[in-house]
Amino acid sequence: MYCFLCVLLLIATSTTSVSEGKSKKLCNVVPKDPYIQVGSDTQIVCESFCVHGSVYWTVDGVVLDHSWMSTINSTHSIVSLRNVTRRKATVQCHRDHTRDVLGGTIVRTYSKPSKVVCIWHYRNGSSGGVPELFTCTWEQLAEASEKINYTVLISRSNTSQSEICSSQNVRKCTSKDVHLSGYVTLVGNHSVTVRAKTKHWEVYSDPYEFNPHHILQIRCPKLNVQALYGHLLAKWNTSTSSNKHYCQVKYNQEVLNKTLEPGEKGNMTIENVKSCTYYKVSVRCAWDKAPWSEWSQEQTVLSQLNKNDVKLRLWRKIRESYKNGTRKIDAMWTEIPSACQGTFKYFIQASANKERGMQVAYPQTLCEKSTCALLVNQEAHKVKLEVFRNGTLLAEDSVYVPAVGETDLPQVANMQTSSRKGVILISWDAPSQFVRGYMIDWTHDGCRYHWKEINSTSTPLSGLLDNKPYNVTVTPLFGDKTGLGTRALRICSTVAAAANFSTIMVKVSDKSALVSWEMQRKDVCSGVIVHYIVSYGTGHGANLNVTVNATKQEILLKDLIPYSQYSVYVKAVALTGASESNVRHFNTKRFDPRFVTQLCVIGTIIIVLVLSAGLCCAIQYRKFLQEPLPNPGLSSVALWPSGGQQKGLFLFRQFNYSSESICARVYMEESWQTSTLDPNREEDSGSVFTVKPDAHDERPHGPEETSTQSPSRECTTLLSESSGQLSSYRSQGSVKSPTRSTEKECQTLLSDKHEQLTASLAMYVTVDMFEQDQGG
Ligand SMILES: *[C@@H]1O[C@H](CO)[C@@H](O)[C@H](O)[C@H]1NC(C)=O
Ligand SMILES: *[C@@H]1O[C@H](CO)[C@@H](O)[C@H](O)[C@H]1NC(C)=O
Ligand SMILES: *[C@@H]1O[C@H](CO)[C@@H](O)[C@H](O)[C@H]1NC(C)=O
Ligand SMILES: *[C@@H]1O[C@H](CO)[C@@H](O)[C@H](O)[C@H]1NC(C)=O
Ligand SMILES: *[C@@H]1O[C@H](CO)[C@@H](O)[C@H](O)[C@H]1NC(C)=O
Ligand SMILES: *[C@@H]1O[C@H](CO)[C@@H](O)[C@H](O)[C@H]1NC(C)=O
Ligand SMILES: *[C@@H]1O[C@H](CO)[C@@H](O)[C@H](O)[C@H]1NC(C)=O
Ligand SMILES: *[C@@H]1O[C@H](CO)[C@@H](O)[C@H](O)[C@H]1NC(C)=O
Repeated sequence: MYCFLCVLLLIATSTTSVSEGKSKKLCNVVPKDPYIQVGSDTQIVCESFCVHGSVYWTVDGVVLDHSWMSTINSTHSIVSLRNVTRRKATVQCHRDHTRDVLGGTIVRTYSKPSKVVCIWHYRNGSSGGVPELFTCTWEQLAEASEKINYTVLISRSNTSQSEICSSQNVRKCTSKDVHLSGYVTLVGNHSVTVRAKTKHWEVYSDPYEFNPHHILQIRCPKLNVQALYGHLLAKWNTSTSSNKHYCQVKYNQEVLNKTLEPGEKGNMTIENVKSCTYYKVSVRCAWDKAPWSEWSQEQTVLSQLNKNDVKLRLWRKIRESYKNGTRKIDAMWTEIPSACQGTFKYFIQASANKERGMQVAYPQTLCEKSTCALLVNQEAHKVKLEVFRNGTLLAEDSVYVPAVGETDLPQVANMQTSSRKGVILISWDAPSQFVRGYMIDWTHDGCRYHWKEINSTSTPLSGLLDNKPYNVTVTPLFGDKTGLGTRALRICSTVAAAANFSTIMVKVSDKSALVSWEMQRKDVCSGVIVHYIVSYGTGHGANLNVTVNATKQEILLKDLIPYSQYSVYVKAVALTGASESNVRHFNTKRFDPRFVTQLCVIGTIIIVLVLSAGLCCAIQYRKFLQEPLPNPGLSSVALWPSGGQQKGLFLFRQFNYSSESICARVYMEESWQTSTLDPNREEDSGSVFTVKPDAHDERPHGPEETSTQSPSRECTTLLSESSGQLSSYRSQGSVKSPTRSTEKECQTLLSDKHEQLTASLAMYVTVDMFEQDQGG
């Protein structure tokens, strides 16, 4: 019963909710995310079931004017978008009063393929016949992420389209088996259309109409080039000669046109070629209105030497004049370029100009290089150069050498030089006589000369080496003679900023560093240093700069942070500029090195003292272990001086010991046996205690003996000494006395046994004495 009620209740609720859902339909904007062709129109509908009242639209957030939209009825509103060009636009429908967004959609556009071009061409290396390949290219604006399938369709007028090739995302495709041969012969237009297709849209390009003749690319011509005297001859064959051809011949940077009538063979003469120069020539051809073929393979030819191009530019410099009037002359000329084929020989010959036009020729000289030295006397001379190629005269030139003292020759005056950016400008005043030109020669090393002939009275000299001093001479030329040369003051092509640094050194301490540097040898053409700037720092913050007088080449940098890394460089400042040294890095020390040295010395001294003290102690201790038994038999009996005196003596003895050198003690320890025999030492003790030395007493003691001796006995002896109650035996036997520290040690060790030991000592002394008596 209850169950039944429950079921009823459930049905009731579900039906009410369904009816409510139907009456309260959701608001929406349709169509959802449409794609439209760029430039086309579209309509978007807003279904505003969920609200009452009017709506408005926005595109990318901009409210649309009411003229764009129309309201159909209370629940449907339409916006018409015309000529949409944006790639992507967000269109939203809003409730009028509340501005709530009721819905939206994204409109995207696509464009159709454009600029379709096709060519009909040959496969590489194909032999002939009709072209095998048909390649089309086109353009399309699209996002890179879009996957577009392209298909190329071809049709002849009034026939259906057929697919010839397709590609994905690539705006080019080639058909390998298009049978255009049929089309070529047929009259009529042909057209190609490109279809672009994606998941969302499909679009066709405008048809591209063509005449097969106009898209045919012929094969590249076969070229042959010959170098002839003074020109090049290019000859080429085209694959088809039945049509009119347009050809272009390219050599180096030039292009020449040539039209070939049907049946004409390709050939062209290239004039005005330079002698002995490599030329790269290629050719291409095309039918009328058709695309160019590929450029043919480049042919390289070396042009022949043209006699007219040979310019020897013979010149001479008088290098040295000797007292007897003999002069050494350097003749110089421009060699035939080495690229020219053939064997070239240069002969130079001087001949003196005697009175009455007589010529006295010197023997000819064969010159190996493009300069040759000659010796001539003080008379005027003519120097002649002849060049032979493969034995035949190719060219000749001559130059005049004035006689010594020939001063009535023209000469230029008022020479001015200046240099700017590596170019020397030179000018002068023309001589009063008529001259046909001037020869300018210049050198920076006196060996290699440059020279040129000009007509004007000023000229720039370029192509110079930087920072070099040049000697420039101007010589007027008149008739077939030369005037007198005038040399300009030596001038630098450029002036270097300053000499360069050769070294930079840093001597580091904890808070200071001594920076010193050396400069390379100053050149004629380097600026005079005004001062140096030393720039240093840790790399954190700006560098500190110190200016140093040009006369000094070092500086002590102070107030540095100990134990830090620094970098330093030096700048040499001249009026003409500045040059910088390399950057040097250094680390300041943690402590002052002098302090460290002192610390080391003191430390070493302390260590040595401590060590020696320890050593002495050890030696003394060992010595007491080995102390020989005193021999009363060797003692002389004498009265002890009074107590006060005894004490004084003891003190003296102590002093005496302490003055003993460490080395002596060490020596004793090492050669224990010999040390006991040391006479000096016996004298020492003797002088104090008035003990008569006796050879019998000084018998060596074996080590075994030493080891068997009781340490307590040794210390007792010591104890008695320290207490000032020295027995005559002890004083006599103790050739080696203990140091104070040993005494102390023993005192503490043995103080408790004092009385007992004194007793046994007395006993022992007695026995010893008796034995000695027996032995005596
Ligand atoms: C409003 O117009 C649309 C489209 O013409 C139509 O489908 C819909 O039924 C109309 N609604 C009313 C309430 O007339
Ligand atoms: C061929 O195309 C041209 C221009 O596109 C047109 O004028 C001509 O009428 C066309 N010929 C035929 C046969 O369709
Ligand atoms: C594009 O072509 C590829 C291969 O032919 C095919 O798999 C794909 O479905 C095509 N895409 C569209 C959008 O036509
Ligand atoms: C051009 O053809 C002629 C004969 O047909 C041939 O002798 C000549 O070598 C060819 N020239 C070139 C550059 O191939
Ligand atoms: C050669 O022809 C091309 C085009 O055919 C033209 O642009 C060019 O000016 C011509 N050159 C000469 C030197 O006639
Ligand atoms: C340039 O001329 C000067 C002045 O006579 C001379 O001392 C110097 O050697 C010449 N230099 C060269 C490189 O010829
Ligand atoms: C100088 O002028 C003469 C005649 O004016 C001319 O023949 C000659 O070629 C000129 N020389 C130079 C180097 O310009
Ligand atoms: C030192 O000179 C350098 C460059 O010449 C500059 O960058 C730096 O600021 C200067 N330092 C000071 C403290 O002037």
